[in-house]
Amino acid sequence: MSNVVVVTGSAGLIGSESVRHFAGLGMDVVGIDNDMRSYFFGKDGSTRWNLDRLTKEVGDRYTHHEIDIRDRDGLAKLFAQLGKNIGLVIHAAAQPSHDWAAKEPFTDFDVNAVGTLNMLEAARAHAPSAPFIFTSTNKVYGDTPNRLPLIEQETRYELPPDHQWYQGIDEEMSIDQTLHSVFGASKVAADVLVQEYGRYFDMPTAVFRGGTLTGPGHSAAELHGFLAYVMRCVMEQRMYHIYGYKGKMVRDAIHSHDLVSAFEAFHRAPRVAEVYNMGGGRFSNCSHIEAFKIAEEITGLEARTDYVDQARTGDHQWWISSTARFEQHYPDWKLTYDVPAILREMYEANQDVWKVS
Ligand SMILES: NC(=O)c1ccc[n+]([C@@H]2O[C@H](COP(=O)([O-])OP(=O)(O)OC[C@H]3O[C@@H](n4cnc5c(N)ncnc54)[C@H](O)[C@@H]3O)[C@@H](O)[C@H]2O)c1
Repeated sequence: MSNVVVVTGSAGLIGSESVRHFAGLGMDVVGIDNDMRSYFFGKDGSTRWNLDRLTKEVGDRYTHHEIDIRDRDGLAKLFAQLGKNIGLVIHAAAQPSHDWAAKEPFTDFDVNAVGTLNMLEAARAHAPSAPFIFTSTNKVYGDTPNRLPLIEQETRYELPPDHQWYQGIDEEMSIDQTLHSVFGASKVAADVLVQEYGRYFDMPTAVFRGGTLTGPGHSAAELHGFLAYVMRCVMEQRMYHIYGYKGKMVRDAIHSHDLVSAFEAFHRAPRVAEVYNMGGGRFSNCSHIEAFKIAEEITGLEARTDYVDQARTGDHQWWISSTARFEQHYPDWKLTYDVPAILREMYEANQDVWKVS
């Protein structure tokens, strides 16, 4: 009986979607989250509201633990209790921001890298055959994407259509010798460790390198949560600061539902030491300028933006993921949300919360 899913970061965007999804499939979910996002990003960033909503919705299928993933013994104890009942591990707790990481590099590394090692060791000791899913990031490629031969268009940067990565950047891009930011470096350490526990210990591990992950469960804060923060600023008529690249930098966006359905596919047919780029690809992407235009159309409000002529260190000028590798391994998986659908859902879900004050 391996009917338990352990989810870290269970009150966060990806964690909470995972909890709902796997509880909906009849699994028991054990969540780990200590609301450290409020320490990173202040009140706006707290995920407590999402936890409250989650516990009401999911009921008895969900058990919450406030364990800090830096607490190695606490994790080991929990895994020892659950033991062979664990059928899946989804590790989504993290310090997720470049800018924040530079403020406290030790904390960033302890959470992102050492926290991941703590999870891997707990899993190896007590549930080595359970698929282990890790949410990595496209920031492991550092600023190498910024060396692409981009062309400036009216509202975005773009690759020439005949470029090998026009349809999206695949896993062949090097992660070495590039500017990662402190955050990118701690995620590389975690990413490589997760691969290693697959290769070296033969555990069914998978690294999902996300582009922009998004959805209504995001606690939108200026330093993290691009599309949610765009929508929040427009709805609350807050000023949004666009940093660099004339607002033409391109992001692909994947809805948390589509990402978690990829996790389910992996859970049903696990593989060892896999790495997948995961994003909205050509189906779902936008520049900042384009995102504001769509948000304005949806809300009927005018966005308030100002421009700071200095890109954030390590920020990508253009990123579109290729999900071809994942689709080759799991041909039934499909993206269902594009950028307008994502923004519309955020608007509808937050009507009562994000208001002009
Ligand atoms: N959102 C994105 O755009 C994006 C893009 C690429 C990769 N990722 C990765 O996906 C994962 C999930 O991202 P998200 O957007 O759901 O983040 P999130 O901040 O919404 O959720 C993470 C949760 O982890 C919790 N947490 C943080 N540190 C913790 C600790 N030490 N112990 C216990 N809990 C802790 C936070 O309180 C938060 O609720 C992260 O690994 C992130 O790096 C996110």
